Amino acid sequence: MVNILINGIGGTMGKKVYDALAGREDAKAVCGVDKHYDGCGIYVPIYQDIRDVAEKVDCIIDFSVKAALYEYLPYAVEKGIPCVIATTGYGKEELDAIQEASKKIPIFRTGNLSLGVNVLTKLVKQAAALLGDKADIEIIESHHNKKVDAPSGTALMLLDSVKTARTELTPVYGRQGQVGKRAKNEIGIHSVRGGSIVGKHEVMFILDSEVITLTHEAESKTIFANGSINAAIFLQDKPAGLYSMADII
Ligand SMILES: NC(=O)c1ccc[n+]([C@@H]2O[C@H](COP(=O)([O-])OP(=O)(O)OC[C@H]3O[C@@H](n4cnc5c(N)ncnc54)[C@H](O)[C@@H]3O)[C@@H](O)[C@H]2O)c1
Repeated sequence: MVNILINGIGGTMGKKVYDALAGREDAKAVCGVDKHYDGCGIYVPIYQDIRDVAEKVDCIIDFSVKAALYEYLPYAVEKGIPCVIATTGYGKEELDAIQEASKKIPIFRTGNLSLGVNVLTKLVKQAAALLGDKADIEIIESHHNKKVDAPSGTALMLLDSVKTARTELTPVYGRQGQVGKRAKNEIGIHSVRGGSIVGKHEVMFILDSEVITLTHEAESKTIFANGSINAAIFLQDKPAGLYSMADII
């Protein structure tokens, strides 16, 4: 049985992880950390400060905000606790801090915990390689109106996939005004926000008179919660290092 601390337990995803853990026999929630929690529907201790945690923890699953990284990551390194980092929107400084910590503890980080999206990244890579510079490529991501970062972590993963085959491409984030003709080395990335869209990602390969679109649509956030629990279990016997979905698939 893997004892899980949920960081950001009061948030949308934190609650999903808590609910998903209730149905598992291989892992359980032992406590959570959150700065602002209304106290409803969660029956494990919730701390404001991770340094007050009293339970034995085998893994931290983080679905919170990027600033929280500097609170739980030093704690995890100090205590030797593996981490699943699902929060998105990190810049170079945070990614460097994660890389550094992964020299001491096992860390699993991905912009998207669903199996389908990770298969999509492989298909996108293949299509980009097959079509080469015959295709203009555009990425469109759509999410609910509460998402705070753009483009999504998944759109950036898809950009990386395209760039493994088309290294010359430079991202253009949305277009506005007199932008001129589309340059050959552009890849457009567009963010749509509204309502309760769980997450939709489309990669368009636009040729002369034909278009191929590869699409993934998440229908429920439960896929991300289950993915994070599977990642926590995967980390249990792993040495220090930085792991991703590619290591699980
Ligand atoms: N990798 C994936 O597959 C995946 C899937 C879904 C969401 N996400 C990401 O997970 C993150 C959380 O998403 P959400 O929809 O649950 O957001 P949310 O706003 O509903 O929840 C965030 C929670 O973090 C809490 N919090 C704020 N500061 C904190 C701190 N210092 N320590 C601990 N908790 C703190 C907030 O009070 C809140 O309860 C986002 O970055 C989102 O993009 C990733």
